[in-house]
Amino acid sequence: MKALEEKILREGQILPGNVLKVGSFLNQQIDVPFMNEMASEGVRFFSDKAITKVLTVEASGIAFGYAVAAKLNVPLVFAKKSRTSNVSGSVLQAQVYSYTHNTNYTATVSADFLTEKDTVLLVDDFLANGEALKGLAALAEQGGAQVAGALIAIEKGFQKGGDALRQAGMQVESLAIIEEMSPERGIRFRP
Ligand code: G4P
Repeated sequence: MKALEEKILREGQILPGNVLKVGSFLNQQIDVPFMNEMASEGVRFFSDKAITKVLTVEASGIAFGYAVAAKLNVPLVFAKKSRTSNVSGSVLQAQVYSYTHNTNYTATVSADFLTEKDTVLLVDDFLANGEALKGLAALAEQGGAQVAGALIAIEKGFQKGGDALRQAGMQVESLAIIEEMSPERGIRFRP
């Protein structure tokens, strides 16, 4: 998505450790009209799938997930990173390892919200090593739901999560794929 690439170049900041800061429109302040444009662009890839729910993980996935769910006119389900009192009864759980933060968390969703009646679209703001997507796919599978594919705002293509999931057969669509990123040379996108 050309407009997203241009926005990343204009507003993104490259931090040490290959981290791209996009707090001005995606991760802290949300550019709502632009998020809606991103969602419109993204759902076109899945127009042949009868998606019944969007599935993401808190916290930063929720905004884009909401915009995508609104376009599809379906519910948004988000996995919690810790079990809280508002996830009760039977639950689906998956361990997710974050390379960026070198931590583990347990993604948790109530079993009521993902069932064999569902075809889910996985959505996230960033895709790096693919651990979050694998965890979301595991939750859907535990609930008996079909996974239609994954829609990502920004993929770090130099980390191999997206390509590995594509090779494994998942339809992974990213609105911008960063091929290379460094403070000295800037950002190069995958054509
Ligand atoms: P993976 O799921 O693809 O394996 O990625 P990884 O564990 O490395 O990423 C962990 C977290 O860091 C995720 O959010 C992810 O969205 C975010 N992230 C990864 N790379 C970048 C980056 O370059 N820039 C920004 N802004 N975020 C990045 P999280 O920490 O789990 O939490 P939250 O922000 O959703 O609360």
